[in-house]
Amino acid sequence: MRHKRPAEGGFSEAMTALIETQGLTKHYPAGEGVVAALQDVSLSIAPGRFVAAMGPSGSGKSTFLNLIGCLDRPTRGSYRLMGEEVEALSHDRLADLRSRRLGFVFQSFNLLPRADALANVELPLIYRGMPRRQRRERAAAALAAVGLADRMHHRPTQLSGGQQQRVAIARAIVGSPDLILADEPTGALDTRTGLSIMALFQALNRSGVGILMVTHDADVARFAERVLRFRDGRLIADETQNAADAATALVALPEADAVA
Ligand SMILES: Nc1ncnc2c1ncn2[C@@H]1O[C@H](COP(=O)(O)OP(=O)(O)OP(=O)(O)O)[C@@H](O)[C@H]1O
Ligand SMILES: [Mg+2]
Repeated sequence: MRHKRPAEGGFSEAMTALIETQGLTKHYPAGEGVVAALQDVSLSIAPGRFVAAMGPSGSGKSTFLNLIGCLDRPTRGSYRLMGEEVEALSHDRLADLRSRRLGFVFQSFNLLPRADALANVELPLIYRGMPRRQRRERAAAALAAVGLADRMHHRPTQLSGGQQQRVAIARAIVGSPDLILADEPTGALDTRTGLSIMALFQALNRSGVGILMVTHDADVARFAERVLRFRDGRLIADETQNAADAATALVALPEADAVA
């Protein structure tokens, strides 16, 4: 449907953008007043980009990511995901769009502790109603893609932090999303492991997956090709840059920095 809308006025941009927001605003009630967690954010992100969102604590980064991930609704403003006005979608259509188009990665991995790696990665496909055998095959392929072919039957407690984050990334990519949303994905990891996760993100990005990653760390944001900066809920800068190569940075890292 969205491909048939006439390309006129401001619509042509919306048709090609993966994400487009106009005046996106989120207020939270706080005592008598409100906290303006996000104010008037208008931007567009093309498919297949690697974007970092930076800013100090409380600047609205997670609020922005949660709105983009359709995990929360804006107080005001509009948001189009792949040309679809999110606010206008039915609950089922939105759940479907989210499960097919988006993958989520969090700082604390958010894995099911009693399930092994394979079962954790299969989970999004269960929600889609995919038959078990196909699910297992796809989950195994996603784990292999993140370098964990030999850890399929380990539970989270039997894996290192970096391996747990790889399982979470396998879970995020198992449904072939257009965009991975990651909130401080290296926040709980040491420098070397964090770099290996960035190298994995860059490899996924080269294969065409878009990435929107929240980080407060400039050392992590340098691997993105575009950096959004938030302060007090406002988007105060939006710049493209030459991304550093994480695989190269990983090789160049002195051994002494390899903290467990
Ligand atoms: N559910 C909520 N209810 C009330 N206020 C909230 C809620 N979530 C966030 N806020 C407030 O909105 C503002 C933005 O919060 P947000 O979590 O987006 O910041 P952040 O940039 O992700 O910070 P951090 O780097 O610490 O994770 C903060 O002032 C926060 O206190
Ligand atoms: Mg946050």
